[in-house]
Amino acid sequence: MSNISTMELDPNKANKEETKITGRKLRVGIIGTGWIAHSHMDSYKRMPDVEIVAGADLIPGKAEKFFKEFGLEGVRCYPNDKAMIDAEDLDAVSICTYNRQHAPCAIYALEHGVNVLLEKPMCVTTEEAVEIMRAEKKSGKVLSIGFQPRMDANMREIKRIVESGVLGKVYYIQTGGGRRRGIPTPFGTSFITDETAGIGAMADIGCYSLDMVLNAVGYPKPLTVSGYKSDFFGKNPVTYPGHPEYAEAFGVDDFAAGFIRLEGGIILDFRIAWAMNVNTPGDTIILGTLGGLRIPSTDCWNGSTGGPMTLYQQVGTQQIDTVIPLIKDDGPSLFDRKIRSFLDAVKNGTPAPVPSSEILYNQAIIDGIVKSAECGHEIKVKIPEI
Ligand SMILES: NC(=O)c1ccc[n+]([C@@H]2O[C@H](COP(=O)([O-])OP(=O)(O)OC[C@H]3O[C@@H](n4cnc5c(N)ncnc54)[C@H](O)[C@@H]3O)[C@@H](O)[C@H]2O)c1
Repeated sequence: MSNISTMELDPNKANKEETKITGRKLRVGIIGTGWIAHSHMDSYKRMPDVEIVAGADLIPGKAEKFFKEFGLEGVRCYPNDKAMIDAEDLDAVSICTYNRQHAPCAIYALEHGVNVLLEKPMCVTTEEAVEIMRAEKKSGKVLSIGFQPRMDANMREIKRIVESGVLGKVYYIQTGGGRRRGIPTPFGTSFITDETAGIGAMADIGCYSLDMVLNAVGYPKPLTVSGYKSDFFGKNPVTYPGHPEYAEAFGVDDFAAGFIRLEGGIILDFRIAWAMNVNTPGDTIILGTLGGLRIPSTDCWNGSTGGPMTLYQQVGTQQIDTVIPLIKDDGPSLFDRKIRSFLDAVKNGTPAPVPSSEILYNQAIIDGIVKSAECGHEIKVKIPEI
């Protein structure tokens, strides 16, 4: 490719090459032109070094309409990801498909030497995550997963607090959250059928709360999972006024809970709901030997903490509670940060801002909950070699 300088690195270290792209715009394609693709496009349009050259959607005419909405002319549209990748010379793609199509699209793009920004959740199963990572390793390309809340100043503060040592040794984490009634169907059934979504509340919002706490404590490997999931609200026609057929289509979890043992002696107690008969299943708490941190639950999911955090400590003979003021974060939008950090990694050949090696464990916990819930007992987490 013109204007791309490539330098081989030590092949024993990793099957990677350092690639720098200079002197021209990055050629980007969008796979899946539904709801979240709009946020990607809004951000790409603000990036002066990007040219959106192509897009693909399975629904005829949808990609064409999408680019017209953004006032873009000359963007070539394709009926699926493969047709686009085969025909185009792309530097990068945003994968904005429903969950079941994350793995096939990511693997095909990476196998064809295209850098990938993959929407969350990474995919549906641990096995898929491993296949994606094998393709990533072979390609040497950048793969980043779309967890933009990580880029919020208050979320970053959680990691800083843990890393400062003020909590001592972390041994227990409670996290999760949910909505009283909030099964996402405004754009049809892509979030609720097994064929498209594969996983429900866990994939939509649960993966965020897992990322919040796991990122803070350094993404320890999950060892065992005891999981539960249910679909009482999803399968009830009363949940969908005017659309009782959604109850029939519902094939995922609307509530899930898990008790997870993590490497390093940390217990993770997790629950997530798209619908439940309570206002909140509780705040996130991180318990350490020297301090405890409470992170108020959010109205799922706005990308930040639900209010000021509190640090609980024993100082001398006294119990001290410190309210940590919220940081005013007036910088670029979280989506702009997600897209920019991915583009910078692609241009400079630097590591992915949200690496698959971390999100693999997020996926393994979700998959562990599914598998444990199905067999009715605790399971050992097995992650194949990558
Ligand atoms: N990061 C965030 O804040 C955020 C927010 C919402 C959704 N998401 C994630 O984004 C993903 C998409 O969600 P959505 O609400 O946009 O879904 P959507 O159903 O509105 O759009 C998905 C689109 O992908 C298309 N598609 C599926 N497979 C394809 C393929 N192989 N080639 C081309 N097009 C294909 C579908 O036809 C559909 O138009 C989900 O995985 C979801 O978890 C992320």
